[in-house]
Amino acid sequence: MSGIVGYIGKRNAQPILLDSLEHLDYRGYDSAGIAISNGTTIEKRRSVGRVKDLRTCILREPIPSGTIGIGHTRWATHGTPSVQNSHPLTGCDDRFLVVHNGIIENYTALKRSLKKQGHVFKTDTDTEVIPHLLEQYDTGDFETTVQAILPLLRGSFALAMMSREHPNMIIAVSQDNPLIIGFGKGEAYLASDIPALLPYTREFYPIKNNEMAILTLGKVQLKTYDGISVEPKRVTVDWNVQDVLFPDQDHHMLKEILEQTKAVEETLKGRLTPVGVKLPEIEAPWSKERVQNISKIHIVASGTSYHAGIIGKKVLEQLLQIPVQVSFSSEFRDDHPPLDDRDLIIVLSQSGETADTLSALREAKRFGCPVIAITNTVGSTISRKADNTLYTKAGPELAVASTKAYTSQLTVMMLLALWLEQQIRDTHDEYSQALLESLTRLPMDIDSTLIMTKDAIDQLAQITYDQEHLFLIGRGLDYVLALEGALKLQEVAYIHADAYAAGEMKHGTMALITPGVPVIALATQTHLMDKVISNIKEVKARDAFVIGITKIGEDLLTEEVDQVLYIPETHPFLMPILAAIPLQLLAYYSGTVRGHDVDRPRNLAKSLTVE
Ligand code: F6R
Repeated sequence: MSGIVGYIGKRNAQPILLDSLEHLDYRGYDSAGIAISNGTTIEKRRSVGRVKDLRTCILREPIPSGTIGIGHTRWATHGTPSVQNSHPLTGCDDRFLVVHNGIIENYTALKRSLKKQGHVFKTDTDTEVIPHLLEQYDTGDFETTVQAILPLLRGSFALAMMSREHPNMIIAVSQDNPLIIGFGKGEAYLASDIPALLPYTREFYPIKNNEMAILTLGKVQLKTYDGISVEPKRVTVDWNVQDVLFPDQDHHMLKEILEQTKAVEETLKGRLTPVGVKLPEIEAPWSKERVQNISKIHIVASGTSYHAGIIGKKVLEQLLQIPVQVSFSSEFRDDHPPLDDRDLIIVLSQSGETADTLSALREAKRFGCPVIAITNTVGSTISRKADNTLYTKAGPELAVASTKAYTSQLTVMMLLALWLEQQIRDTHDEYSQALLESLTRLPMDIDSTLIMTKDAIDQLAQITYDQEHLFLIGRGLDYVLALEGALKLQEVAYIHADAYAAGEMKHGTMALITPGVPVIALATQTHLMDKVISNIKEVKARDAFVIGITKIGEDLLTEEVDQVLYIPETHPFLMPILAAIPLQLLAYYSGTVRGHDVDRPRNLAKSLTVE
């Protein structure tokens, strides 16, 4: 997962490329590079590290100004992070410059055959085959040369390419890998996602499979690989540019945690009515009969979205009495139960671009299953491939660790479960009626949770300064929450945090409990409280330092733990949304106290467009 940008117009390309790359560096920050054309010659600069390192490199060795260019920020897949392996990459004679996101799966075979034809490779990347192929198949016309090589490439790839012999042109393609064209007045932009271009435009076109975009001064042409012209149907987004500018808070992650009240409020807006849930996006295609015909639901997602999926499963099963299976996207594609058109697939993805989830979606479609996507990204590949899409309205999420998108996904899962229940039973029982009512108060409860826990967690995080291990325990929904809390602590605080179903500790893991080891006990579900308290007693008996997270008024638990954090009480299904907040804050403050770059954790990237 790397980030790609491009610009062609009348303005100086350098600041536009560098600024847009900075917005994309959540996609990878191993190295960065740009190439700029002044209409006659093209110059490139590349640097290991982040875009700021590339800026320093350009300060040392300025690049002649020009109004056309491409850029890249890399998350290394093939080849170490080095200047040599940084994009833009060129072939034997530097004629073509290529930036690439994705993986060319057949690059070994292509490289072998190109080597036989005399091509000399300088890098360990899969990408390098592309400029060599362009040289090999060069017709003298840039467009037909690109057309000639595209059928040879297998895998998922987004590419922006320049040719020194055609320095007034950029050609871009997007095969199962996002690349967006942004439209300005007499100018055009390219970027791997929409937020990177929000400072310049709100009008976009996501390039589709088998399409190539030919960008020349004042003109954007779109053609199929066979050369047939296509009219780009532009989408306009209403995201605010302020959302992607650097936050008042120290980090995007903290800003996004604090934005959850608004994110959930926006996600609920217009969808809760006095008579139930309204989801116009799926109302027409999903008649009552069709919903009633569903035999099984499969939720497919990765990482944090997968955790939202497990909570979704518990809610859907209870409200609908239909079996629900949750699978990691990366597993589902190769290992799934029998499927047919009565299996509803729900894919969850903040970015809407995760390659594993996209593959799982395709696999489900192969069996004729209807697919509903829940995503935060308008126009994303997953939203386009699914039959219907429900958007979370969290706004752009830029920190690598997902926070506001997660709580917004859970909110949409609740809405979807309630809506499906309406279709099946025409009415809500007392329990789901209570859920509906609690949803109306959810933004307020999130606000209270932030107020009640933020400073306390900041203090508490200090104890994690020199901890290497931490355990999170819970039962039922609290166990799922523990999984998400552990993931957050691993990715931003680099703490070996593990989540356990509280009742399972005694079956093995208790051997790891040593005096003073921090254990976070999640206890938000009233019907499980007695059992969790027993489990807390067990770890306390081994001298663990236990921090309880529970609802206001749970005094019995308070007596058992070393420290307690209270959150407001709401419907049991919504407790994981509130309780996720102190865990996110803990990961954030632990990460910062331990001196890590919480927005850009090591070895990670946000939008994982490779499998
Ligand atoms: C963790 C995190 C990741 C993502 C995962 C799926 O904080 O952000 O685990 O949840 O990579 O990403 P999406 O939801 O974009 O498919």
